[in-house]
Amino acid sequence: MRVPFDVPEDGYDLVVVANRLPVDVSLDESGEPTWTRSPGGLVTALAPVMAGAGDEGAWVGWGGSPDLELEPFVVDGSLLVPVALSQVDVERYYEGFANDTLWPLYHDVIAPPQFHRQWWDAYQRVNRRFAEAAARRAAHGGTVWVHDYQLQLVPAYLRELRPDLRIGYFHHIPFPPLEIFAQLPWRTQVVEGLLGADLVGFQRAGDAANFVRVVRRLTDLTTRGQVVTVGEGTPQQRHVRAAAFPISIDSHAFDELARTPEVQARAKEIRAELGDPAHLLLGVDRLDYTKGIRHRVKAYGELLEDGRLSATDTVLVQVASPSRENVGAYQQLRDEVELLVGRINGDHGTVGHAPVQYLHQSFPMEEMAALYLAADVMLVTALRDGMNLVAKEYVAARSDDRGALVLSEFTGAADELVGAVLVNPHDIAGMKDAITYAVHMEPRESRKRMRRLRRRVLGHDVAAWSQQFLAALTAVPAGQGAADAGERGRRDG
Ligand code: G6P
Repeated sequence: MRVPFDVPEDGYDLVVVANRLPVDVSLDESGEPTWTRSPGGLVTALAPVMAGAGDEGAWVGWGGSPDLELEPFVVDGSLLVPVALSQVDVERYYEGFANDTLWPLYHDVIAPPQFHRQWWDAYQRVNRRFAEAAARRAAHGGTVWVHDYQLQLVPAYLRELRPDLRIGYFHHIPFPPLEIFAQLPWRTQVVEGLLGADLVGFQRAGDAANFVRVVRRLTDLTTRGQVVTVGEGTPQQRHVRAAAFPISIDSHAFDELARTPEVQARAKEIRAELGDPAHLLLGVDRLDYTKGIRHRVKAYGELLEDGRLSATDTVLVQVASPSRENVGAYQQLRDEVELLVGRINGDHGTVGHAPVQYLHQSFPMEEMAALYLAADVMLVTALRDGMNLVAKEYVAARSDDRGALVLSEFTGAADELVGAVLVNPHDIAGMKDAITYAVHMEPRESRKRMRRLRRRVLGHDVAAWSQQFLAALTAVPAGQGAADAGERGRRDG
């Protein structure tokens, strides 16, 4: 088989390609690289997958700071391969095209997407750089797993460079309906980029269906159910499958963490520090306009105003971890949320008691587990969310079968988490009723609901997710559509 790119002799059988490395790298005062865990659901989900691949696995991604050229390094047995982004790349590819064009477009245009040709140029350029880095690391006939909306062109670029590979792509965020996707000036190129993969995975069946419909309308390729035929009737003919693989968390590890005496003690301490309120409500999100933080805080403020919740005996802890702070829509959101929180505390607080505890910070896993355990009601009110792993973390932490989950129907998690109190976050009156219901839920009912939630979350963890995706990908012969089928037969046979 002709491979237009040098295949490394000591290549990796599994190469993950994601915008971020699982660690944020920076240089300390002496110029030595140091790292901390990166934010977000993707990294949380993939850490155990990489641990499973051991020294057969490599991860290609950005270290999280601009203009940082670093050599590959090993963390927990896998090779991390940093891709350098210049300041201009960060502005145009990451903050621009990924997070000010695609992110709002794919989340129901909650914020208006910006379309700029320079950003698109940067997106193509950076996607090519990621594809080249992966092509340099993958073993002959190896598997490359590309992740998320920042890298939708990588599958096609990579197939061009290395037709011998098996290429999977997983989309962690929603895939929008055709009517919204069609706004993108470069919609056809994006679809063609994704069709470079053998398997395109989504969170929900509805996302996969949206994608197939987009393929049907924007290309003249044949589709049969969820399978698209590319290069039909040519020696390059191959099939691309679209399917749903709902992502999860390392539920058992989380369950165990929350059972440790330290976390249990910390949960009690948190309640005590908050003045042992009768009701403790919790929100945990990246500070992002898709998460419905304003809607949630507004509903809570009105419940205090109406006297349906006691301002002196109730606390809402809202953890809002800093995110994408150079993007205008995020700066605006921060101002709005902080204004609202300030108003509620101003109107309903007393000396020594604030009804909203707002924390614009990130916390380690142990502290998160303690917060989940301390909370009577967890509020996940996203306006649109691919999955929402916070909802699953809350459930995994509740080995006491207590607590109630209020969950937006616009999250991928709502498809799975039967037992949650579902809400439409746009319906403030309905959300106020749901919060009140959850706060006053009979222990018998909340136990029953929580047991059902836990069966699902503990029965389908992130290991099951990645195994299902990789099994479906491995079922595809490597090098599909590469001209020399003879050699492929020898290698796979
Ligand atoms: C979501 C996305 C991830 C992203 C994470 C954090 O979970 O699906 O791809 O990494 O948010 O966002 P950031 O822009 O900080 O990487």
